[in-house]
Amino acid sequence: MLAGDIGLELGLRVADALKAALDVDITPVEALIRPAAPGRGADYQCNVAMSLAKRLGRPPRDVAAALVEHLDAADLVEPPEVAGPGFVNLTLRRDWLQEHTSRLLGDDRLGVPEARPRRYAIDYSSPNVAKEMHVGHLRSTIIGDAVVRLLEFAGHEVIRHNHLGDWGTPFGMLIEHLVDLGWTSGEHSIGDLDGFYQQARKKFDADPAFADRARHRVVALQGGDEPTLALWRELVRESERHFATVYELLGVKLTDGDYYGESFYNPFLDEVVDELEAKGLTEVSDGAVCVFPPGFTNREGEPLPLIVRKSDGGYGYAGTDLATARYWTRDRGATDLLYLVGTPQAQHFRMVFAASRAAGWLDDDHRAAHIGFGSVLGEDGKILRTRAGGTVKLVDLLREAVDRAAAVVGERSKQDPEGQGRVARAVGIGAVKYADLSGDREKDYVFAWDRMLAMEGNTSVYLQYANARVLSIVRRVGHDAEPGTPVVLAEPAERALAVKVLQFPAALATATEEYAPHKLCTYLYETAVAFSAFYESCPIAQAEDDRTRRSRLVLARLTSRALTLGLSLLGIEAPDRM
Ligand code: ARG
Repeated sequence: MLAGDIGLELGLRVADALKAALDVDITPVEALIRPAAPGRGADYQCNVAMSLAKRLGRPPRDVAAALVEHLDAADLVEPPEVAGPGFVNLTLRRDWLQEHTSRLLGDDRLGVPEARPRRYAIDYSSPNVAKEMHVGHLRSTIIGDAVVRLLEFAGHEVIRHNHLGDWGTPFGMLIEHLVDLGWTSGEHSIGDLDGFYQQARKKFDADPAFADRARHRVVALQGGDEPTLALWRELVRESERHFATVYELLGVKLTDGDYYGESFYNPFLDEVVDELEAKGLTEVSDGAVCVFPPGFTNREGEPLPLIVRKSDGGYGYAGTDLATARYWTRDRGATDLLYLVGTPQAQHFRMVFAASRAAGWLDDDHRAAHIGFGSVLGEDGKILRTRAGGTVKLVDLLREAVDRAAAVVGERSKQDPEGQGRVARAVGIGAVKYADLSGDREKDYVFAWDRMLAMEGNTSVYLQYANARVLSIVRRVGHDAEPGTPVVLAEPAERALAVKVLQFPAALATATEEYAPHKLCTYLYETAVAFSAFYESCPIAQAEDDRTRRSRLVLARLTSRALTLGLSLLGIEAPDRM
């Protein structure tokens, strides 16, 4: 058996003990097993006695004592100790640790079990046609891609869909503007999407005749007029070309085949209204067909509508999102819908989910979650903008990241200019991604080059260097550590590193289940730090004997595997040499 999630295993044992000792039922998670703080003299702490004490009306120390007495875990941990008000300190047995560490080298998954597969449909990136992607789309793309990788590694089926904003009233004015520019075929290209959008907008506001043409154009578009559709397709394709440059630079998994834009759901919109009406969920309000999901009110306490069909017969953002939920659950059999969209849209998604549950598209086995995130701020603490005050072009931002990274890594790899290009890309793009992933996603973060490219601290370049250093040591000392090579954990730093490596499955499980990549980042950083401490006090090449040398080599190789695998699940490359 592989170690798997040790905390969960301990939780199971604690749950069994409490059942035997006090006849209470808890889940392994409720056992509250936490990695102990360094210097506590234990690996894990169990805090369940405090939480049960009240429920049972007994002093926490008594609960802890009863638990310890009935705990059947002698194969795994040293005899447990009760500390303070009722903590139970758990220390893994050295022989257990040694055996499991040694075995882990034979496992590409580093002890991570495969989940019972579910089918996820994940909506991420989702920019808008004829507009530059902004940093909000950058966050959606980066976090979404990490979530995709985490879920796939866990063994789930993941369908990516890019909910491109490619439909709606602005397209009338955009297409008319194209016509004015003399577009007829695909030989043209828009250099600057935002500029194009703003010009169209300006004309629309200033020129009533243009505005009139734009409105007719919307009707033609929605009516399926072929020449209009042809121009619309050009516009969409041109925007997709822009987005492809960003995806390519980022190295994300999104491809051209993943677009399911708003227009994709058009054919289903009438059926959605019919179905909602048939289920008695709609009300007509000011001519619009609405759903009023219970519990949503405005400041005046009036019920808030989700507008399914507007009074002019057209459909908007909300109607399309209802069709989206219905399509992925009903037509594509998705069990889990994930939406990677900024937190300002939280209420929209809560309402869409509530309406979808009422319609029966979501239920206990068809779940939906909005994975929100905060904004990217400039160093002045305001929403990130260019110096001129415009929106930051992502392509420029990413190219700058690679240039800056080249300067950071440049001095160290002058002999290998080609390799340096690849390393600069890994470091630069990695820095942008890691800065986005390493903080709690719900919070805003400040985009600061110096911080994200710092060699010390919780940054990707620190982890990349740590990994390259481990690999260079392994190259120097030799590869003669195979799975099954005995591991001896004599020094505290060796033991600490082994415990860290064995916690990989637990760290990954938390990051995956909570859609919290930052928890994986923290784990990787701690692992790199544990390796540093280990390498300072435990020489490998100069180890006192061959057995120790090979044992330490196992630890080094496992460290590199944890770092490489962990980074790859965040979508970040870990170069072998830097
Ligand atoms: N295009 C939207 C925006 O830029 C995001 C779409 C998110 N996905 C969705 N199904 N609503 O704000």
